[in-house]
Amino acid sequence: MPNLLDYTDKVVLITGGATGIGQATAKAFAGQGAKVVIGDVNEGATETVAQIKRAGGEALFVRTDVSDPASVEALVKATVDTYGRLDCAFNNAGILPTATPLAEMSVADFDKVISIDLRGVFLCLKYQISHMLTAGGGSIVNTASVAGLIAGRNTSSYVAAKHGVIGLTKAAALDYATQGIRVNAIAPGLVATAMTKGWLEDADFSRRLLQTIPLARPAEPEEMSGMVLFLSSSQASFITGQTFTVDGGQVPR
Ligand SMILES: NC(=O)c1ccc[n+]([C@@H]2O[C@H](COP(=O)([O-])OP(=O)(O)OC[C@H]3O[C@@H](n4cnc5c(N)ncnc54)[C@H](O)[C@@H]3O)[C@@H](O)[C@H]2O)c1
Repeated sequence: MPNLLDYTDKVVLITGGATGIGQATAKAFAGQGAKVVIGDVNEGATETVAQIKRAGGEALFVRTDVSDPASVEALVKATVDTYGRLDCAFNNAGILPTATPLAEMSVADFDKVISIDLRGVFLCLKYQISHMLTAGGGSIVNTASVAGLIAGRNTSSYVAAKHGVIGLTKAAALDYATQGIRVNAIAPGLVATAMTKGWLEDADFSRRLLQTIPLARPAEPEEMSGMVLFLSSSQASFITGQTFTVDGGQVPR
């Protein structure tokens, strides 16, 4: 049987790969033969690189702030300078706001979430696509959220940013559909990562949250990786501009 998700000789750039969904997906890509470049503000991403190398894979960490254009441009340049190409990107870095109703949210808090969760995806798309155009194509997956499809309480900046990521995904897909570049998104539901640790440790909050999920549990970060590897691969060659929920049935419910 051929391996339908073989990434041998492919170069994959992942933001937010120090922990959580990005780390799990970096390891999944590397396990399929990809050379992985991780852009993250967290130097802990060196541990993801070390784990990939110990398993016989190839990876590089480039300290990157996705909200800073020069930093994102340098990340793409370092990828191409090191490995000679950029085939796929997973724009996944993100943060949550401090939970608060909209009128009590500070302008600074709103701007911070938008700058990382939305502007960061725009900047990644901008510099990745600029390179992919010269190279003849590529595929990109952005991390949205179920909060990009339905609102959650007390997280207006995040809801706005993630709705924006789904919009950016559609817009970028349209702009480059005829130039060999596909752009899709995943919309994770509740995933057990550093981001949601506080929610899951709060027994009452966690019980109420799990009641909204037909599978009645949070996902493990590894459960997001399969969709990303599929969408990035030639198996998904007729799919672009789409957002796929990976949510244990939360939105369909
Ligand atoms: N965990 C969930 O339930 C859930 C649900 C839906 C969507 N998401 C989204 O999934 C993505 C990954 O989150 P996670 O759950 O793995 O959380 P996480 O906190 O484990 O990972 C987020 C990563 O992004 C990095 N990051 C933060 N700000 C950055 C910046 N300015 N520049 C570069 N890197 C930065 C962090 O260092 C971290 O490595 C996020 O976009 C998040 O919004 C998570």
